[in-house]
Amino acid sequence: MIFKKLWRFLAWFMCLWAFITGYSPREKLHTITALIGEDVTLPCAFEFPDGKKVPYIVNWNRENVKIPFFMWYDGYPPHMSENYRGRVSLIKPASLNLTNVQDSDQGWFICSVFFLNRVSDMPHNTSRVQLKVHAPPQFTQKPPDVVYVKVGESLTLSCAAIGTPEPEITWLKDNRVLKASVTVQILSTKLRITRLQETDFGDYLCKARNNEGSITVASKVIGAGATFRSLVRSFSSTTVSS
Ligand SMILES: *[C@@H]1O[C@H](CO)[C@@H](O)[C@H](O)[C@H]1NC(C)=O
Ligand SMILES: *[C@@H]1O[C@H](CO)[C@@H](O)[C@H](O)[C@H]1NC(C)=O
Repeated sequence: MIFKKLWRFLAWFMCLWAFITGYSPREKLHTITALIGEDVTLPCAFEFPDGKKVPYIVNWNRENVKIPFFMWYDGYPPHMSENYRGRVSLIKPASLNLTNVQDSDQGWFICSVFFLNRVSDMPHNTSRVQLKVHAPPQFTQKPPDVVYVKVGESLTLSCAAIGTPEPEITWLKDNRVLKASVTVQILSTKLRITRLQETDFGDYLCKARNNEGSITVASKVIGAGATFRSLVRSFSSTTVSS
């Protein structure tokens, strides 16, 4: 494969070049936010030396990875690493069209442009783009639909969610935001109630929210003792009245 050989040669050549000349400090910073599955354009703008159009090579690197995952040279099919094949294309002159954004795309992208006939020139790192991949919340732990507890016991309901940005968890009881107290502890993934009273029985809701969305899961806390007592009460009242 002649293209493969060419790219290998160019990669070596540019590594050597970068090593000898050092890196250019002239670069632009961008931050881009995308949802999983979306398409984004990672910008990279540059100027030709002395304003004259000359042949150039575009490299896109992930941070801390020496080998570019995308290399473009006019007239040749671009080289792409396995995990970006079919997902990236060049938007001339040097920006990158990244489609179907994945979680693993989160982080820094570095664009470097090399002018082929200017050996004395440094490689131009013309932009660093930080890609933030957002995702709506998703539960990783849910409390049970129904819990039976007795007065005086303690109760722990678990609820956790992932997402980007990290979802915030809130608890509601009978549609009111639950506040911490001596007996109610609100921890990051748990709600803990000690020395349960009848007023603690009811409908609980765990809500996970970030900028991308909000989800809820319900948990009914029923007093086992109270149910039994009320059963006895209703039973005795029927026997008394009859
Ligand atoms: C990016 O690539 C996709 C798939 O090839 C294409 O549909 C889309 O129009 C491109 N976006 C831009 C801005 O060129
Ligand atoms: C410039 O780009 C090269 C890859 O072509 C990269 O290894 C290097 O870390 C970049 N330098 C800076 C300062 O970002």
